[in-house]
Amino acid sequence: MATDPAPHPHASAEEVEAAYKDPKLANVLYHDWEAGTYDEKWSISYDDRCITYAVDRFKAVAGDTGPYEHALELGCGTGFFLLNLMQGDVIKKGSVTDLSPGMVEVALRNAQHLGLDVDGRVADAERIPYDDNTFDLVVGHAVLHHIPDVEAAMREVQRVLKPGGKFVFAGDPTNIGNFYARKLGQATWWLTTNVTKAIPALNDWRRPQEELDESSRAAALEAVVDLHTFDPGDLEKTARRAGAVEVRAVTDELTAALFGWPVRTFEAAVPREKLGFSWAMFAYRTWQNLSWVDQNVFAKVLPREVFYNVSVTGKKPAKRD
Ligand SMILES: C[S@@+](CC[C@H](N)C(=O)[O-])C[C@H]1O[C@@H](n2cnc3c(N)ncnc32)[C@H](O)[C@@H]1O
Repeated sequence: MATDPAPHPHASAEEVEAAYKDPKLANVLYHDWEAGTYDEKWSISYDDRCITYAVDRFKAVAGDTGPYEHALELGCGTGFFLLNLMQGDVIKKGSVTDLSPGMVEVALRNAQHLGLDVDGRVADAERIPYDDNTFDLVVGHAVLHHIPDVEAAMREVQRVLKPGGKFVFAGDPTNIGNFYARKLGQATWWLTTNVTKAIPALNDWRRPQEELDESSRAAALEAVVDLHTFDPGDLEKTARRAGAVEVRAVTDELTAALFGWPVRTFEAAVPREKLGFSWAMFAYRTWQNLSWVDQNVFAKVLPREVFYNVSVTGKKPAKRD
């Protein structure tokens, strides 16, 4: 979506140019740049709201809430998933990893502020720098769609899990969900930027042109970092090919995504000071209510493929005696 700021200011023009042909370099540049503002941009917090969200999402796919002794997160970003799962008592000790050094730094800083027992490393999910049989749990949130070779990453997950250990990857886009989310996001961006330009009374709802231009340039790079969307059945097959057992993919968010993507795009297209606390509460409560309807009504009657998010869980086979 055309909603994001430009790549980080330390990237040279040559690096940015090279990044268009190299998704991993693009991921590093893009997410390094985003690291400092990521929590604010995605309304990530480390309080009850996000703890409940992370634990509920984990439980919906894993079917349990642990506790797990030692967990690894791949593509941790600022630590949203693992740190909130630790605060929700699902995980006791954590290791965070990400391809972006900037993200690992912020995740470790967040963990330190929260007083959590966490170490971290810069790491590519396709080559995890930990020994075989190390973790009881491996988690990821919104990361699989950035990894060029998802099956290779899943093989690595199997390697570093202890026998019988579990993985949970949540929050990646489905093929169909991504289609309508992008279309709605693009339409909202176009409408907001053009209406606020065309109607003089709304001109001060338009972000400065240079910021809008930056967002458009970043959107081009974002197209390079977003590599996949998933069919839930195919994702299950990928996990099984990597050696996992007890594999299960679940989906969620339909009306919540149809509401959420235009709202998030609108928020990114207008000056931040225009939308206050009541707007944030309205957006969050409406999203919450729609998620409830999705889970309790639509999930019972519609195929899983039409929902926006897909999550997948599975296990490393237990050791035979
Ligand atoms: C959309 S962000 C999600 C961050 C965080 N998990 C969250 O939910 O807020 C995706 C993250 O995956 C990281 N990433 C991308 N490709 C990766 C790879 N091959 N290995 C490890 N991390 C990767 C990015 O740097 C970024 O921090």
